[in-house]
Amino acid sequence: MDKIVHVVGARPNFMKVAPVIEAMAAEAEAQGRSLKQILVHTGQHYSPEMSTLFFDELGLPVPDINLEIGSGSHGPQTGRIMEAFEQVLFDEKPDAVLVVGDVNSTIACALDAKKLGIEVIHVEAGLRSGDLGMPEEINRILTDSISDKLFITEPSAEHNLAKEGVPASRVHFVGNVMIDSLLKHRDAALARSTLDQFPVSAGEYLLVTLHRPSNVDNEKTLGQLVDAIIEAAKALPVLMPLHPRTAANLERFGLKDKLVSDRITITEPQGYLDFMHLTANARAVLTDSGGIQEETTILGVPCITARENTERPVTISCGTNQLVESNWSAIGPALKGVLARDGSSNGKSVPEFWDGSAARRIAKILLK
Ligand code: UD1
Repeated sequence: MDKIVHVVGARPNFMKVAPVIEAMAAEAEAQGRSLKQILVHTGQHYSPEMSTLFFDELGLPVPDINLEIGSGSHGPQTGRIMEAFEQVLFDEKPDAVLVVGDVNSTIACALDAKKLGIEVIHVEAGLRSGDLGMPEEINRILTDSISDKLFITEPSAEHNLAKEGVPASRVHFVGNVMIDSLLKHRDAALARSTLDQFPVSAGEYLLVTLHRPSNVDNEKTLGQLVDAIIEAAKALPVLMPLHPRTAANLERFGLKDKLVSDRITITEPQGYLDFMHLTANARAVLTDSGGIQEETTILGVPCITARENTERPVTISCGTNQLVESNWSAIGPALKGVLARDGSSNGKSVPEFWDGSAARRIAKILLK
């Protein structure tokens, strides 16, 4: 391989691609061979706090190409990415395209590459929630079905891919590149003074992040979650960085004012290092994110996930994660259980290969 295109599009992609680019450059240099790496940002996320902020913090190169696609419903957004990215492939003629995760940019660019006969590499393959109501689950299944090399983070992925008939020879268990980024930047994140901006103290707040369409696009469910946050705040002050999707829906459903309280702090989406600081110092986290289930597992912070399923079961078997329904009857007992436990007993063990070297393993396989 002489030339590879890496794709990023949305916030959770940046911390996955950064270690891969770095490891591939190091491996090529160690082998004394030339490798051209091109970074394409589809522009699915574009607000500074959802995008540019992460580049500096993660040491990601400035994208060589930004397709500036922006927001939209699934069809137009995926279609616009496909149209623009195909032109990139015509111009650049790479040997391979590497996509990460499960966002619309992932499937759009994988599909373009595959149809042009370009090798498709999927990092964080094989995760399955079993819930086709999630847009990400559709993106995962389709991307994996056309990928030539599939890099997986946990044993469940091997099983899922085998069930779908993906040949084992394409699948490589390498660990978790998101955790590579976390371990690399953990000390810098901990050294920040992020908490000084907020009226909460280390180890004494509940960090809340919600953005899944199944939780925040539905008025009744979002209303139940707002009620749960108000109840939770009676036990523990709440700090809630607000995703733009959630902010818009709180406004639309007239729920925003209900959260006004001196026990609840609502703030903008945070950069990578600040968010890691806030996660590491939280007493517990209430979330519906995929990545945060993994990060809390490594940081040993109890994670209450407001979802019916998870595509990351190792965060439950090894980590600090538990699934609950999106209402106070389920969240309340989970939070009480967490508060009753001594924080030092959080987390059972570290999942295999979540050791900071996943990207190095990927680079070695790709540049063999
Ligand atoms: C997308 C991903 C999801 C991922 C999440 C992380 C898909 C299908 N979904 O969902 O898997 O967990 O990113 O955030 O790819 N907006 C801004 N600024 C931005 C981006 C979005 O204000 O930079 C607003 C827009 O109003 C947009 C809304 O947020 O309509 C939702 O953004 P979108 O990219 O459609 O989906 P996410 O919910 O962010």
